[in-house]
Amino acid sequence: MNLANVSMRKAVLIPGDGIGPEITDAVIGVLDAAGVAIEWDRHYAGLAALDDSGDVLPQATIDAITRHKVALKGPCTTPVGEGFASVNVRLRKTFNLYAAVRPVRNLPGVETRYQNVDLVIVRENTEGLYSGVENEVTPGVVMSMKVATETGCRRIAHWAFRYATQRKRKKITVFHKANIMKMTDGLFLRMAENAHKKDYPNIRYESAIIDAGCMRLVQDPSQFDVLLLENLYGDVVSDLCAGFVGGLGVVPGANFGETEAIFEAVHGSAPDIAGRNVANPLALLMSAVMMLNYLTENEGDEAFGQAAERIRAAYDRALTDGEKTRDLGGTLDTDQFAQAVVQRL
Ligand code: NAI
Repeated sequence: MNLANVSMRKAVLIPGDGIGPEITDAVIGVLDAAGVAIEWDRHYAGLAALDDSGDVLPQATIDAITRHKVALKGPCTTPVGEGFASVNVRLRKTFNLYAAVRPVRNLPGVETRYQNVDLVIVRENTEGLYSGVENEVTPGVVMSMKVATETGCRRIAHWAFRYATQRKRKKITVFHKANIMKMTDGLFLRMAENAHKKDYPNIRYESAIIDAGCMRLVQDPSQFDVLLLENLYGDVVSDLCAGFVGGLGVVPGANFGETEAIFEAVHGSAPDIAGRNVANPLALLMSAVMMLNYLTENEGDEAFGQAAERIRAAYDRALTDGEKTRDLGGTLDTDQFAQAVVQRL
């Protein structure tokens, strides 16, 4: 499409680490082919930024997100058990992106053990055990603090019920461990119950202790609609649910605050397959589709939503035609799958 006379909206692109640059290139190729009028302001975070600027989250990246309000982000590596703090956690805290949303749905042409999966995970993104408050009490004794605030628990509960109402979802299930963590998970649970009773009585509400909830999930995920979880549970259950529909290559995500939104796949930087052009770009492409729909809902420009629908229909057709990357049992490389989507736009 000729974009010469179209006014371009700017958005931040963070390629990320590991498979990040490969899948972001593939996704931008599809968005360009679909005629999406976005000018990408490319900035770095994670290891890629560390090499360049000495910081995993450079001020220039923060400034660009503040300016443009939306970002599409590839995954960023965090060292295990040592080294710098997660840039993902820092980004979420910097912009107060308290609501993470991960839709998990069966896709056409992707056979799994589970059918009729159509659930949405809403994860509190700024509190819980991800507060990063860890210390050594005495040699050999370390502790990590789980933080829950009334404000944080209330706002994510209301966010989830508002989301469920707008998307015509019927039920919210809270997973918790308030039998053990009576204060922190107890507060989370109480705020969700209050939101339901006071403001959203028309959305069905239930709660489950997370261990039994996970058992019910793997028995029959189709019984769930919207799952509301605190930070750590949401992180773990997101990957678990990805397994229902084909794995981490097919589950998108978005992180919302009051003014900024960052769109990224649920998966990480997949160092085991990085640099080989075999990663599935679909989860990031689906995250980009979420971003386009968000732009239409927030800024009223229908063209983004229309492009989102064309892209969604194109990847559905590609999958139905058996055009798949290796993680889904196919043979396509990253760029070949992107090309298969482009051919069907
Ligand atoms: P991971 O999600 O990167 O990989 C787990 C498994 O799934 C690997 O076998 C990988 O090859 C496969 N996989 C992931 N995405 C794939 C894709 N698009 N296509 C095909 N296969 C895919 O999780 P892991 O290995 O635990 O973490 C690696 C790094 O990513 C860590 O440094 C972690 O901190 C970081 N991470 C970053 C996230 C983010 O930036 N939002 C989220 C999760 C992890």
